Amino acid sequence: MLPELPPGLAAHIDRVVALAGPLAQRHGLDVARTLLAAQAHDLLRALPGAALLARAEAAGLPIDPVERAEPMLLHGPLGAHELVAREWVTDAVVLEAVRWHTTGHPDYAPEAWAVFVADKVDPHKVERWPALAAVAEFAESSLELAALAYLELNAARGRREGWPAYPLAEATRRALRQRLA
Ligand SMILES: [Fe+2]
Ligand SMILES: [Fe+2]
Repeated sequence: MLPELPPGLAAHIDRVVALAGPLAQRHGLDVARTLLAAQAHDLLRALPGAALLARAEAAGLPIDPVERAEPMLLHGPLGAHELVAREWVTDAVVLEAVRWHTTGHPDYAPEAWAVFVADKVDPHKVERWPALAAVAEFAESSLELAALAYLELNAARGRREGWPAYPLAEATRRALRQRLA
C-alpha cells in the first residue's frame, strides 16, 4: 500500500517539480528525466518512521545505524525500491535521483543534482531556514556547487545540534569538495 500524500507534501512536490524543470533547462539537462524524478522523490515521505523501518527490513535494504535511529532517512531508498517493484520507473538515473535525494551521492548524474537542489530550495524550506537562499544562488551557476553548499550548511548545523554524522552525506560532501576544489 502507498500512503496517501498529505496536502502539504503534495504541495512541496509540486514546488520541487516547478523548480527542477527550469534548473534542468538552465544547465542543459534531460528535462523529462528530471521532472519524473522530482515528481517521484517523496513517494514514501508520508510513511511513519516505524513503517519505513519495517518495510526497509522486509525489502532487505541495507540500514545503517543513523537510519535505524532516524528511519525518515530511508524514504528515498525505499521510494526507489517501490518504484522498481511496481515497474513504474526503470530509468537508472531517475531511480538513483530518488534513492539518494536526502544525502546526494558521489556518483550522482546532473539530473539527480537538479532534483536534489530543487528539493532543498523549496521556498517554504528557505523561509524556515534562510541560509538556504545561498544554495539557490549557487544553483544559477553550478548544481554541484549548490549541493555542496547545502551539505556544508547541513553538516555545520548537525555539529551545532549534536546530530550524528550521516556517512553517505559525508561521503558526498567529501567527493564534491574534491571535485570542485
Ligand atoms: Fe524527501
Ligand atoms: Fe522533498
